[in-house]
Amino acid sequence: MRRHKVSIIGAGMVGSTTAHCLAGKDIADILLVDIKDGLSTGKGLDLFEASPISEFHGHIEGTGDYALSRGSDLVVVTAGIPRKPGMSRKELIGINCEIVVNAVSECLKYSPDAKVIIVTNPVDVLVEVVRRTLSLPRNQIMGMSGMLDSSRLRTFIAVELNIAPHDINAMVIGAHTAENMIPMLRLANVNSVPLKELLPQEKWPEIVKRTKNAGAEIVSLLEIGSAYYAPAEATAEMVDAILRDKKRVMPCSVCLEGEYGLSDCALGLPVILGKEGVEKVLEIELTDEENQELAKGAQFVKEMIRENF
Ligand code: 2OP
Repeated sequence: MRRHKVSIIGAGMVGSTTAHCLAGKDIADILLVDIKDGLSTGKGLDLFEASPISEFHGHIEGTGDYALSRGSDLVVVTAGIPRKPGMSRKELIGINCEIVVNAVSECLKYSPDAKVIIVTNPVDVLVEVVRRTLSLPRNQIMGMSGMLDSSRLRTFIAVELNIAPHDINAMVIGAHTAENMIPMLRLANVNSVPLKELLPQEKWPEIVKRTKNAGAEIVSLLEIGSAYYAPAEATAEMVDAILRDKKRVMPCSVCLEGEYGLSDCALGLPVILGKEGVEKVLEIELTDEENQELAKGAQFVKEMIRENF
């Protein structure tokens, strides 16, 4: 049986840590692509040299040449620049959009059917813009955000309850910004026990607040750069669900085509992930307030697209 192949674009902290997490799963050959080809080649070699010990059985390589990505089943895009002092959000969107559209279009030249996971921010905007620019079917492209935000939410609940994080089921939907995230504590449970039976509702607002600001909390602690361990684990989990056709339900940034009464934008919502990528968007019943928050997130994403493209 042919091994799967995953190309990761961008060999910075998120890209290389995603490669590391994926190597641990031993499910695919891995190619790291970066314009700094010394960086990608060096990190690829370093990871490959760990395989006798980590029991990774495939091939890992780094390169600056997109042609080597030929035959990829899946492409993960982490390339892009972080905001620098004095730089407007508009400039950041423009630059990252150009980088990401170019990266996806180069990869699809060599692997036209590859599924694409965008990790670069602003993720919801980039997912929609890349899909429109390259006319991709919506099952082929998605963004990583909900898995990360949900993992943070689950962690904070687990700490509060002193219960294993893995046993906490909780999901964050909406856009991947502090203002537009919707942590769904209403639906959270601990191995089927509703959260409200274990954690008094007065404690919920603090958990919601910390989840919404979790990315910024890491940025301010690190002082340089943003989170990468949790983003990488979340991305690797999505890759695993797709390559192994697991049909897992995961919150992902997905282009909407009328679901929840929304279209022409991407937002984080629960989807079924399998070998076709986004196989279905699950339409769960939301409260009026949640629907309003979701619509606000959609408005935000659409405005960013309108203002910048
Ligand atoms: C995060 O939430 C930067 O989106 C990234 O940590």
